[in-house]
Amino acid sequence: MANITVIGAQWGDEGKGKVVDWLAEKADVVARFQGGHNAGHTLVIGNQVYKLHLLPSGIVRKGKLSIIGNGVVIDPWALLEEIGTLRGQGVEVSPENLLVSENAPLILPLHGAIDRALEEARGASKIGTTGRGIGPAYEDKVGRRALRVCDLAHPETLRQKLDNALMYHNALLKGLGAAPLDADELVASLTEIAPKITPYAGSCWQALDRARNDNKKVLFEGAQGIMLDVDHGTYPFVTSSNTVAANAATGTGTSKAGTVLGITKAYTTRVGSGPFPTELTDDIGETLGQRGHEFGTTTGRKRRCGWFDAVQVRQAVKTGGLDHLVLTKLDVMDTLGEVKICIAYEARGKKYDYLPASSDLQAEVKPVYETLPGWQKSIQGVRAFEDLPENAVKYIRRLEELTGATCAAISTSPEREDTILVKSLF
Ligand code: IMP
Repeated sequence: MANITVIGAQWGDEGKGKVVDWLAEKADVVARFQGGHNAGHTLVIGNQVYKLHLLPSGIVRKGKLSIIGNGVVIDPWALLEEIGTLRGQGVEVSPENLLVSENAPLILPLHGAIDRALEEARGASKIGTTGRGIGPAYEDKVGRRALRVCDLAHPETLRQKLDNALMYHNALLKGLGAAPLDADELVASLTEIAPKITPYAGSCWQALDRARNDNKKVLFEGAQGIMLDVDHGTYPFVTSSNTVAANAATGTGTSKAGTVLGITKAYTTRVGSGPFPTELTDDIGETLGQRGHEFGTTTGRKRRCGWFDAVQVRQAVKTGGLDHLVLTKLDVMDTLGEVKICIAYEARGKKYDYLPASSDLQAEVKPVYETLPGWQKSIQGVRAFEDLPENAVKYIRRLEELTGATCAAISTSPEREDTILVKSLF
């Protein structure tokens, strides 16, 4: 089977963009299956930089079909804006190379407003969402009141569907003492945007079935990371979708997700609030942040940095369904005299070899570290395993041992060619 699924093995921002772009060159179809425009993938091709949020990474390459699957929540205005930006950069986007799943739910302006209002109300216990309306849109989906892409083709029933959704939202707003939402205004803006979106709408599962019958290579592109999964992550400090590989199937209507690669940073980062056992608030954390340019693509927020957490990644290998790791940003650690790996947690006098589900315990666990010597040599741009310093190899081997997954590739700079391919993919 030629399909590959790429997901993040930590809290997002593991460098999926580079790996996905590298694999997209060989793929025929690239499909997103969860999340929305909360994601941020930066692609550097030649001297052009593309910043993608909702569109699959295959879009910037000619001759590929890009699919936004039913598991994605779609803000139609954000989608059109992103298409416009890419066109401005000379990228062709048309119904020939972009398919938007007709059964994907829509993010409406009210979802963004609710997301931001709830965050404000949470005060110190805020989740640190991207404010893009992701959570409220997924809530409407499972609450069976969402408007979907296919509804845009039926303006005559839009009002009735919207009234159904607003019955819920306006009751909530009334309870909060806020003004109710105006259905007329929303119907007018949806009617205006509908003809610009519907040409892209179609059946995602059928397109993937055709691709399978034609022996095409499909790349499923995950967003965020396993520890942000709504079931398996650090709940409630998570996103509202399943980020594990199993959702590549549900989120597109296929059962052939293929080989699963978990993109894993050589250290750990996280944006937003929530537990982060190996977080470093000292000079080393600062060094990792500076050398790794750890600022968010979508919100520009500074990322929290810490040591590699082998307990967390070992758990992600199991829950995420990972076949291999792809280790990124190893070069960021070049200057460190010694490197630490978290091998267990301790809380309330007890040792843990996994991250317990309770948010109280997750907030309390302290890492137990193993220390290895650093390599203190630049490995930036190294493209062959044999050219890595001995201590860097020791570090990689120890990560593999502790996490139970081998590295299929190792990235040594943001440049796409600066990648050590250990196992052939696609
Ligand atoms: P939401 O997805 O906007 O609801 O945000 C929920 C949590 O997921 C917050 O902690 C965000 O910072 C985090 N998050 C969402 N998208 C990304 C991403 O693409 N990379 C890293 N973190 C993300």
